[in-house]
Amino acid sequence: MIHKENNYSLKSLNTFGIDAKTKHYIAFDQMDDIFEVDKLLSELTDKQRLVLGGGSNILFTKDFEGVVVQSKIDFIQKISETEERVVVEVGSGMVWDDFVSYCVNNNWGGTENLSAIPGVIGAAPVQNIGAYGVEAKDVIRSVKYWDFAKKQVVEIDNESCHFGYRDSIFKNELKGKTIVLSVLFDLSKKDHKLNLSYGALKDLNESDVDLRTIREKVVEIRDSKLPDPVKIGNGGSFFKNPILEKDFTDQLLQEFPEMVTYKVSDTKVKVAAGWLIEQAGWKGYSENHVGVHDKQSLVLVNHGGAKGEEIVSLSQKIINDIYDKFKITLHPEVIFI
Ligand code: EPU
Repeated sequence: MIHKENNYSLKSLNTFGIDAKTKHYIAFDQMDDIFEVDKLLSELTDKQRLVLGGGSNILFTKDFEGVVVQSKIDFIQKISETEERVVVEVGSGMVWDDFVSYCVNNNWGGTENLSAIPGVIGAAPVQNIGAYGVEAKDVIRSVKYWDFAKKQVVEIDNESCHFGYRDSIFKNELKGKTIVLSVLFDLSKKDHKLNLSYGALKDLNESDVDLRTIREKVVEIRDSKLPDPVKIGNGGSFFKNPILEKDFTDQLLQEFPEMVTYKVSDTKVKVAAGWLIEQAGWKGYSENHVGVHDKQSLVLVNHGGAKGEEIVSLSQKIINDIYDKFKITLHPEVIFI
C-alpha cells in the first residue's frame, strides 16, 4: 500500500523531534510498490528527494521543499539454512531492534551487540551502524535497493557496499540515487563467536554469557548513557570519533595522557570525541532549547521546542572550541537537511 501526503509534519518522523514540514510525503510497505512509487516520483521531477529511515540520524534545519520517501516494508524471511548458519532477508522498514530481538529469541548470533540502536533495517547498511565492537557490515550478506536512474532492483554483496566507519557506498557513489528495499543477513546458529572486546563488556565472563545476557547488558549500558528519544529529542552520537595520524595523537597524549584512543592501524588512531567534548567543559551544557547530554557528551539534545538551527549553532560552537583546545576538527555523524 502507498501512503501519500502533502505539507506533512516530520515531527514524529525524526528523533530530534524537530517540527519541520515536507512538501510531499510518500510511504510504501511492499517491495513491489516501488514501481508505482518511482512513477509518482517522476511526476514530481522538479522536487528534491529525501529517503528517510527511522529519522534517528537526521537534523531538519528548515522545512523540506521536496518529497520525503519512506519504506515501511516489514518482513523477515528465511533464505537458506544449514546446521551452522542461517541467511534471512529483512524488509528495510522493519525496526532494527525488533530484528535484533527476533535474532536473539531464535538464538541466532551476530546482532546482539547492536541491541537497542534506534532506526530501521534500511539505514543499517547506509550508515554501517555500530556499537560495542560490532558493525552492521559483520552480519550483512547483501543489500537489495531500487536504483532511481536504472529503474530496477539491484542486489549488491557485502564487499561491493564499501563499508567503512559509519560509511558505505550509499553515502558516496550511490548517494541520493537509491532506496534500500531489504537487507540479507548471515547469522550463526551455533558456536557463536561472542564479541566482548569493547570496554564496557570486558567485565563479562565469556563462559557464563549468551546472546540474551549480552543483549541485556548492552541495553543496560545504553540506557544508562544515552537519552531515550521518546523523552528527550536526540540523534545518538552527533559527531563521529575522529580518525587521526598516530604521530599527531602521540604528541597530544603527552599533553593529555588520559585522552581515550583506539588503534585503527599502524599509522591511524581513533579518538573518543565524547572525551574531548567533556574535557572542554561541555558535558551537561544547555542554551535555549538545546544542550549537551549530561551522561554522554557526544549526544546533543532537544530539551523541547528546539529549531534545527539551534542544534547546528551549538554544534558549531563545540567544533570551534575543540579545534581551539586540541587542534582536532570534529565532523557530524548526523546528516543536516
Ligand atoms: N567519554 C567521556 N565523556 C563522554 C563520553 C565518552 O570521557 O561524555 C569516554 C568514555 O569514558 C569512553 C570513551 O569516551 O572511554 C568512549 O565512550 P562510549 O563507550 O560511550 O562510546 P563513544 O565512542 O562515545 C561510540 C559510538 C556509539 C556507540 C558506542 C559504543 C560513534 C560516533 N559513536 O560512542 O554509537 O553506541 O561507541 O560502541 O562511533 C551512534 O553512532 O549514534 C552511537 C550511539
